[in-house]
Amino acid sequence: MALLRCESLALGYEGRKIAENISLTVDEGQFLCVVGDNGAGKSTLMKTMLGLLPPAAGRVAFGEGLRPQDIGYLPQQTRAQKDFPASVFEIVLSGCLNRLGGRPFYQKEHRRRAEAALCRLNIEDLRRRSFSRLSGGQQQRVLLARALCAADRLLMLDEPAAGLDPLAAEDLYRQLEALRDEGMAAVMISHDLRASLRLASHVLHLARAPLFFGAAEDYRQSPAGRLYALQEEAL
Ligand SMILES: Nc1ncnc2c1ncn2[C@@H]1O[C@H](COP(=O)(O)OP(=O)(O)OP(=O)(O)O)[C@@H](O)[C@H]1O
Ligand SMILES: [Mg+2]
Repeated sequence: MALLRCESLALGYEGRKIAENISLTVDEGQFLCVVGDNGAGKSTLMKTMLGLLPPAAGRVAFGEGLRPQDIGYLPQQTRAQKDFPASVFEIVLSGCLNRLGGRPFYQKEHRRRAEAALCRLNIEDLRRRSFSRLSGGQQQRVLLARALCAADRLLMLDEPAAGLDPLAAEDLYRQLEALRDEGMAAVMISHDLRASLRLASHVLHLARAPLFFGAAEDYRQSPAGRLYALQEEAL
């Protein structure tokens, strides 16, 4: 049984369908990269997988005892989120919100998880800094630490390197590579095809109906993969 399974999933808002016939699985330790044009429905797919939006058709199922609170989510960034007035530690700790289970306060265990996530990403020295005053690269690292604080088994990352300069992006990809090599499963949306293929065990190329789902090495050779690579080079 897979960690996550989408069966004939259709995505949409208020009756308007955006994409359909999405069937895929994410197994323990797999790294699925989702690529596709702007507006193809990548973020909508991730929100539907997370249960934040209802599917227009089909279903999303979790297996291997995975619960929604075992998933760490790094949403696509908006300007307002970058200005969020809180300290780095508070932001990372808020990854544990789903773990409170109705209790009003964070427990020692949650603080321990937040500390471990800060350590894991080498940002202990930022813990008291104001999130809104960090660089874009530091902010993305903090948000990855927040996702790690929430998750033990599966990360959902929506364009984690968006807006970063090449060095900061490389830094973030190295962190993700290390997490992957430790066996963390992930679904990552990215416009950076080269980085996606470096990290991915599997690729979903999303369009109105998926153009490809399968192993990353097969995607490279597929018509969809070749065409997308040519488009990226032309940009
Ligand atoms: N809250 C919403 N209500 C209605 N339509 C929406 C909403 N959010 C997104 N859409 C529409 O759904 C479609 C898919 O949007 P989505 O954000 O999933 O695309 P995406 O593939 O993530 O694009 P990008 O690469 O630009 O992030 C778009 O046509 C968008 O306008
Ligand atoms: Mg998006």
